[in-house]
Amino acid sequence: HETIMAGAGKRAEGALRRVLEEETGRFVAVVEGAIPTADGGIHCTIGGRTALDIVREVCPKAAATIAMGACAWDGGFVGADPNPTRAVGVKDAVPGIPVVNMGGCPANAVNMAALLTHYLAFGRMPALDSFGRPLFAHASLIHDQCERRAHFDAGRFVGKWGDAGHAKGWCLYRMGCKGPVATYNCPTVRWNDQTSWPVKGGHGCIACASHRFWD
Ligand code: SF4
Ligand code: F3S
Repeated sequence: HETIMAGAGKRAEGALRRVLEEETGRFVAVVEGAIPTADGGIHCTIGGRTALDIVREVCPKAAATIAMGACAWDGGFVGADPNPTRAVGVKDAVPGIPVVNMGGCPANAVNMAALLTHYLAFGRMPALDSFGRPLFAHASLIHDQCERRAHFDAGRFVGKWGDAGHAKGWCLYRMGCKGPVATYNCPTVRWNDQTSWPVKGGHGCIACASHRFWD
């Protein structure tokens, strides 16, 4: 990923090439972003090659593959209807390989670190749910971990953005909060070094770590 590597251009491509040739079966592939498949994949190219071509070479040679974020999981925003580039996630771009799906838009850095640490400590990926997401992050409903839950149970709901209930931190269910149907650990791991999470920020959950949430 040239954005986060010290090297760029030929040096970054050279690092990839060296790992593929010398470390086959001994590296973890982390894929970020959707993979366009229309017109031979030409809508995303890196170093003169299509992303489709790259993942199909790299992922089968990896010890494990992680799809990081909503786009790498199921196409995300890029793959939402009408999806003009026919963008897909990793498991559809490279059929047949095992993929761990770290959903979220964006992916959560704490969960990524936990996933990689688990792999390094135990030599295998953690238990997954039916969507291929780690259970440690998806075992519980957001609703069951939410700090506004007491307001839900007591029937205290925000009815309009900026009303008195909103100012008092009441439940956001009537404003469209998806917490009762979405599973994720964002209420506990939070974002930006545990500063906050969407419901604490007063917006309600849009289920960003759920399957095809953009649609
Ligand atoms: Fe549930 Fe959302 Fe209300 Fe929290 S704000 S209690 S997640 S409906
Ligand atoms: Fe995403 Fe909803 Fe959590 S929008 S970060 S799953 S509160």
